[in-house]
Amino acid sequence: MITFKSLLKIVSFVIASVMATTLMAQDAPTFSKDIAPILQQKCQSCHNPDGIAPMALISYEQVWPFASLIQDRTSKRIMPPWHLDKGIGIQRYKNDISLSDEQIAAIAAWAEAGAPEGDPADLPAPLEFPSGADWQLAEQLGPPDFVIKSNPYDVIANGQDQWWEPRVSFEGLDSERILRAAEFKPSYPLGKKVVHHGHAVLIPEGERRSVALARYGVGKSWEIYPEGTGMRVPPNGSIAWNLHYFPVGTEVPNDVVEVGLWFYPEDYQPEQETVGEVLYRVDGLKGMARGQDIVIPPHGYQVLQGTHRLESPAVLHSFRPHLHMRGKVMSMEAIYPDGRKEVLSQVNNYDHNWQIAYMYADDAKPILPSGTLLQFTSVFDNTANNPINPDPEQWVVFGRRGVDEMSHAWVGITHINEEQYAQAMAERRAQQETLRLE
Ligand code: HEC
Repeated sequence: MITFKSLLKIVSFVIASVMATTLMAQDAPTFSKDIAPILQQKCQSCHNPDGIAPMALISYEQVWPFASLIQDRTSKRIMPPWHLDKGIGIQRYKNDISLSDEQIAAIAAWAEAGAPEGDPADLPAPLEFPSGADWQLAEQLGPPDFVIKSNPYDVIANGQDQWWEPRVSFEGLDSERILRAAEFKPSYPLGKKVVHHGHAVLIPEGERRSVALARYGVGKSWEIYPEGTGMRVPPNGSIAWNLHYFPVGTEVPNDVVEVGLWFYPEDYQPEQETVGEVLYRVDGLKGMARGQDIVIPPHGYQVLQGTHRLESPAVLHSFRPHLHMRGKVMSMEAIYPDGRKEVLSQVNNYDHNWQIAYMYADDAKPILPSGTLLQFTSVFDNTANNPINPDPEQWVVFGRRGVDEMSHAWVGITHINEEQYAQAMAERRAQQETLRLE
């Protein structure tokens, strides 16, 4: 029974809430003035009609229906995809697309106030986006000097992971060249949806070694080597392609992947030679087959560690953890020869859909003395709390499928000599001194 008194209470509560909402709406951020600039800066590179994201987030009409979903994904730091722990380790990266706490709060206040549009006159000028068919590095470096192509592959409409590993001959360079940048480009628009990850590795003529020209995963498609640094590319041999496709409900016939290569001028000799990204295992004991000790119980967790000694001084350019669906955390620590220990980077919100190379800002790159131990730690969560866990009832072991696990890190590294190390450290100390005085 509703008494007059309780009715009065309800009515006054409703009036108070309406007043509160109106007041809030008056100072709430608006789409035109406050939210559109954030979306331009942090979202539209992917959320544009030609981008890799499922929907464009440009006009008010496109954005408002997603207001609460946007609030949810941004407050949990799932979007933009940047899954580094904000409280631990180095925080300055070249490709940081994360939101600031203030931007997340503005999006939340806007969504909670009912996603008001505001005055369209406040909108920032619209941005232009390159088509997904273009080389992303072209704007900065011009068209590539050389393009290699995989053999065509028919991707079926429905099914599980597929691998395509053709060998394609590589010729056409007159002499050894120094690689400055490489970009991996799936076909557009369908190839971008089905290529899960891929490598293009050059096996030089008559040799057994391999030179990794480009590695790709969603979120990582190109690499520019740091100024003065490059990778030697022999003039001929063959390309071993390793392409991992995942069907998306549409047939993709004759899919071809391209890799664009940008070289330094012919007579150029780099100060430092890089080997690009190096794989560091985060599993097992020495002598154990790779991944043999990944055994994650149903509804359980596992922690794995891998320690690697640097036999020469080195500069690190990037950190790219690789785990699958149960992977949650990976940290990279340096244990210096004097015993000091420092966490360099930690991903605490890993998402298998993304292969992000966290690229250190120039003045934040770890410069490590010879004898440093790089220690990596992976944490797996096979419980129902892990939102992308396909089945917590399963025992999980090592394997190539997304439902199996992996545990390694790709680290962009340049090995340097003692003299270069001393010089790099002196420059770093001078930079820090200038910062301190400013
Ligand atoms: C690097 C590319 C990229 C950037 C930058 C990016 N997104 Fe996304 N976004 C995606 C992709 C791809 C998906 C779909 C796959 C997924 O959810 O991981 C997605 C999914 C989403 C979803 C979920 C859609 C759904 O139906 O579940 C929301 C919401 C979203 N993004 C909002 C944002 C916002 C807001 C920003 C900026 C603050 C942003 N994204 C930045 C690529 C990006």
